[in-house]
Amino acid sequence: MAASLDGFIARRDGRVDWLETSDEFAGGDTLDPGFVEAFLKTIDCYVMGSRTYETALRFEAQGLGWSYGTKPTFVLTSRDLPRMRDTVEFHSGDLAHFVNERLRPTFCTIWFVGGGMVSTECLRRGLADEVRYSILPILIGDGISFFEKLDCDIALHLAEVKAYKTGMVELRYEVPGRRGESRTPPD
Ligand SMILES: NC(=O)c1ccc[n+]([C@@H]2O[C@H](COP(=O)([O-])OP(=O)(O)OC[C@H]3O[C@@H](n4cnc5c(N)ncnc54)[C@H](OP(=O)(O)O)[C@@H]3O)[C@@H](O)[C@H]2O)c1
Repeated sequence: MAASLDGFIARRDGRVDWLETSDEFAGGDTLDPGFVEAFLKTIDCYVMGSRTYETALRFEAQGLGWSYGTKPTFVLTSRDLPRMRDTVEFHSGDLAHFVNERLRPTFCTIWFVGGGMVSTECLRRGLADEVRYSILPILIGDGISFFEKLDCDIALHLAEVKAYKTGMVELRYEVPGRRGESRTPPD
């Protein structure tokens, strides 16, 4: 996800207006649209929390489009939410079972879109192989955090750092441990 320097992915009310910043970092790379397109092609499916889905629906209603193309998109929810397209499927229940038994046999690259609750659950349950954290050059003071509370430390391996002309810094961390193995949650 993309976060403010103080670690928020959205304002308390869910707004992400601050994602458009106006900084310039002379030494940074330019985000190549061709690269982004090629990268998006490597993603086989998306998984997101219901609040992130509701933001995506709001964006679509405002004419900003649907960011997930025709890729299967799984929304975690215990509620009855509107299903606006065939590629969207709702899921409730144990996340580790869903990812390991349902998604992994079919999809190679599973992109967890967010938000904070889902990204934390992924890490807590040992489901994440990588964390992609983009820092924007802004402080917003309060909001929804990238991560919620964890029960224990998770040491990461910094695998890649890129800085862009927009002032955004993209961090890619690998989560050490056996790929695809789920940790048992503490009692
Ligand atoms: N800056 C970025 O890059 C970025 C990226 C993604 C999202 N966001 C923002 O983050 C905000 C949302 O984050 P958030 O942490 O508040 O919420 P979230 O993680 O998007 O959604 C949390 C909700 O998903 C459902 N859920 C989560 N785990 C579940 C499970 N295992 N089974 C069933 N349902 C499950 C629950 O809702 P139910 O009540 O429906 O069951 C839960 O309240 C939005 O404002 C969004 O725009 C920002």
